[in-house]
Amino acid sequence: MGVDDAYMLLTSKSAKHDLIGGVALFAGLNQKEVARIAALVEELQVDTGEVLCHEGSPGREFFVIAAGRAEATLRGQHLAYLGPGAFFGEMSLLDRGPRSATVTAVTPLHLLVLDARSFVGLLADHPAVARKVMRGLAERLRESESAPTH
Ligand code: CMP
Repeated sequence: MGVDDAYMLLTSKSAKHDLIGGVALFAGLNQKEVARIAALVEELQVDTGEVLCHEGSPGREFFVIAAGRAEATLRGQHLAYLGPGAFFGEMSLLDRGPRSATVTAVTPLHLLVLDARSFVGLLADHPAVARKVMRGLAERLRESESAPTH
């Protein structure tokens, strides 16, 4: 199978639905809901070293990692590694502040990307997704404050 075939596979409609249905953030949604989300989501593949969020810059997109690993840093200091199923870029879309961290691909990344408007619509239309995003925020807050986790 050539590279073009592989690319076709990734971007076919059913592959995109499978990809969305396979990430924890969207688990439990029915096929109709997945299809609606698929219409809003762009797939993006980036190489190692690519910077997806720049600390201090305005945020325009929300990202979910389908495959690969990214690193969140602040002022050059490691904050966290983000792997398959993790999401990032939600903070500045929620509070309209600047990006709170820099997020860099540490392996090639396969991403699902939503623009700000679609992200806000997603949260409004899917309370279960909104809860997972809030839970993720709470976890990050605990980790960054080194609060008890259990
Ligand atoms: P945002 O501020 O829009 O852009 C940078 C993103 O990095 C941020 O959203 C979060 O998704 C993510 N991020 C910020 N701080 C942390 C952290 N401590 N751990 C993991 N991810 C983080």
